[in-house]
Amino acid sequence: MGHYQVTSRRSAGVRMVRIHVPGYLGIMIQAYQDQQTAESDRFTRELMGTRFSVLRPVGATEFDLRDVPVLKDTLSALALAEVIALCRGVLSSGQPQLKRISEKNFAWVVPLLDDPASGVALELVGTDPDELAELVNRSSLCAWTRELSVRSSATEISSQYEQLEAYASQVSEDLEELTWLRNLANNLELSESGNSVERIAETVLPSLCQLMNAHSLIFVRDVAVTGLNSRLPIIWQTGPVRIPRRNCLAIIEALRGKNADRTVVKNFPKREFSDGGFEGIESCVLVPVATASGRLGWLLAVDKEMAAESCSRTFGDPSYRTYMSEREFGTFEASLMSATAVVLASHGRNCGLFHEKEILLRGVIRSMINAIDAKDSYTCGHSDRVAEFSRLIARELSLPDAKCEEVYMTGLLHDVGKIGVPDYVLKKPGRLTDAEFELIKQHPVIGYEILKHLENLSYVLPGVLHHHEAMDGSGYPNGLKGEEIPLYARILAVADSYDAMTSNRPYRRGMPTDKAEAILRGGSGNQWDPQCVDAFFRTVSGIRLLASQRSSTYLPTRSEASQTDSLELRQACVNG
Ligand SMILES: [Fe+2]
Repeated sequence: MGHYQVTSRRSAGVRMVRIHVPGYLGIMIQAYQDQQTAESDRFTRELMGTRFSVLRPVGATEFDLRDVPVLKDTLSALALAEVIALCRGVLSSGQPQLKRISEKNFAWVVPLLDDPASGVALELVGTDPDELAELVNRSSLCAWTRELSVRSSATEISSQYEQLEAYASQVSEDLEELTWLRNLANNLELSESGNSVERIAETVLPSLCQLMNAHSLIFVRDVAVTGLNSRLPIIWQTGPVRIPRRNCLAIIEALRGKNADRTVVKNFPKREFSDGGFEGIESCVLVPVATASGRLGWLLAVDKEMAAESCSRTFGDPSYRTYMSEREFGTFEASLMSATAVVLASHGRNCGLFHEKEILLRGVIRSMINAIDAKDSYTCGHSDRVAEFSRLIARELSLPDAKCEEVYMTGLLHDVGKIGVPDYVLKKPGRLTDAEFELIKQHPVIGYEILKHLENLSYVLPGVLHHHEAMDGSGYPNGLKGEEIPLYARILAVADSYDAMTSNRPYRRGMPTDKAEAILRGGSGNQWDPQCVDAFFRTVSGIRLLASQRSSTYLPTRSEASQTDSLELRQACVNG
């Protein structure tokens, strides 16, 4: 019978569990998600101090378990047969296995690999075995290293032990780095491309700080790249210890020295630097966040915190040694930070390009709107107001923020086709003839044709083309009915009509808001989508406020408006 001793070393995402049995050493590496930390802790606690039976085969592969007390007293004959079969399987496969062998027990069988015929170690796991089995099965990596032989001399054991530990540490660190990079990639994938690099840093750096056991992890964004009025760089910091801003900058300047943009690891920097920024600091790593096209900033890690559980127990093993000083940063941390910096820098560069593209696109859109306003000065501001009203209605319909912004952009561009309508029709100070009205009715199709080649604006096309459709099919250009009409177009139709009715035009004054609202209610279901009309009225106070702030013309009083020809208003509404 052997006595297993279990110790563990853990950092975020990965645990290395060492299991010693006299003459043998097993190392299991578990990768787990952060939320499973508590379960993994319990898993290790369950193993602490447990006793394993070392079983030797009789002959090549058979086992005789009749004299093993822990089995004899606990298991039925049937369960014993199960255990024998399990031991045989583990001996031939060389892989550890956990298997239920009775109502209350799981058997955990581990191969002793130094000699294929030497045997297995067996433990009955009786406490909440289903959960333990689930934990073991969920581990993304469960591996056993070659163990030591008791026949080796003490020196050989020590040497092999160190090699084994070094190998296990390296595997563990590689796995930690891979796990971390996978998490980082997932975070980037989840984020919209418009998210700033600061936002990404804020999301991912606390995990990196925890993984490195650093006191502080600091992200410094260079002034030159931020382009802000402030001359001070942006500093974002995480970790249990806060470093004063002035010290952060002093440390970065000192560590950079003349070596420009290189990764620098300094342990016990006070030996080298007399600058006040290093007061009380034992170790630090500085990594540039840069791409080939320029530097975005810096990542600075300060001081290493010894994890409470880290290599906490050696159980008197004199050969036990750590491979990295508890308080020094090394290649592992530098490598993790460099990998993170590369991802941050490249994401920052993409954010910058995306931002530039956005500015360019908004400039193009604004130019188009200005062109419409210049051509049809009587409806100046109409596109902006329709866009604002539409966004309010979209929010009332509980559309996601991104969709609400799409509705807003569609509102800005909905009448861009008026650029193609002759001036004498657009500016005619009076009622339109049928022929002129037919020309006006071309503007949705003209707008569609103007915009259809702009790939980034493809989402506005349905709204632009169909914002004059009516629910009863009487609209244009396609006479669509009900939900055949795209949602953005149905929203725009309400906002567009309301603004057309309440705005002054060359041939009539706008009607008062209460009258326009009454028309909207009357046309709900026939002209306009009832849900959009309802949403309009739920946010009508906001729309009235916007209308009063954004209107380039005044809203008339009821008495002034009563003089207006109602037929002309109806035409204005349809033309809008
Ligand atoms: Fe229109």
